[in-house]
Amino acid sequence: MTLIREFKPQADDERLYDIALISLDEIYNPNVFFGFYALWPQGQLVAVDIFDRPIGYISSVRLRDGWARIMMLAVDEGHRGKGVGSDLLQRFRAESARSGITAITLEVKKENERAIRFYEKNGFRRTRVLPRFYADGNDGVRMDSPAHLYI
Ligand SMILES: CC(C)(COP(=O)(O)OP(=O)(O)OC[C@H]1O[C@@H](n2cnc3c(N)ncnc32)[C@H](O)[C@@H]1OP(=O)(O)O)[C@@H](O)C(=O)NCCC(=O)NCCS
Repeated sequence: MTLIREFKPQADDERLYDIALISLDEIYNPNVFFGFYALWPQGQLVAVDIFDRPIGYISSVRLRDGWARIMMLAVDEGHRGKGVGSDLLQRFRAESARSGITAITLEVKKENERAIRFYEKNGFRRTRVLPRFYADGNDGVRMDSPAHLYI
């Protein structure tokens, strides 16, 4: 079982930024985590080790009409493949449902087949291809899921 808690502004910023740098191709502003937190604290979840050091996180925003959008999901390289990402998603579903969210959407690079498989295993379905969605010209895939899921 993964320890998961809400994001702590300032305390978590640096570590999450490091995980983002290693895991995600896009370049993010270091203030991005606080920006999302200010909009929706419950939508920013951090997986931690027993010393409360972040090993993965989900950043998200609320959209209209009961949708939430996952902006970033990443797990530190040394902790992948052990269920941390799936546990983060599961907890995120519960927090979303509590906030009145009914559906979740996200975008992922079309070439990131492992991540697409990971999302499919966790109840997401591909709904659209997004040509040249990313700054480097790569296509994206939109994936959606109901917030409530019994798997
Ligand atoms: C995608 C990601 C968040 C999954 O987290 P995780 O903790 O490794 O996921 P889980 O342990 O719950 O599930 C493992 C599954 O994730 C998938 N996966 C994707 N990338 C992986 C990686 N680098 N290492 C291990 N598993 C990976 C596999 O399908 C794996 O299934 P398998 O065990 O049957 O091979 C994580 O691997 C990661 O941070 N990847 C880099 C960043 C990224 O691609 N983010 C998503 C794009 S927005």
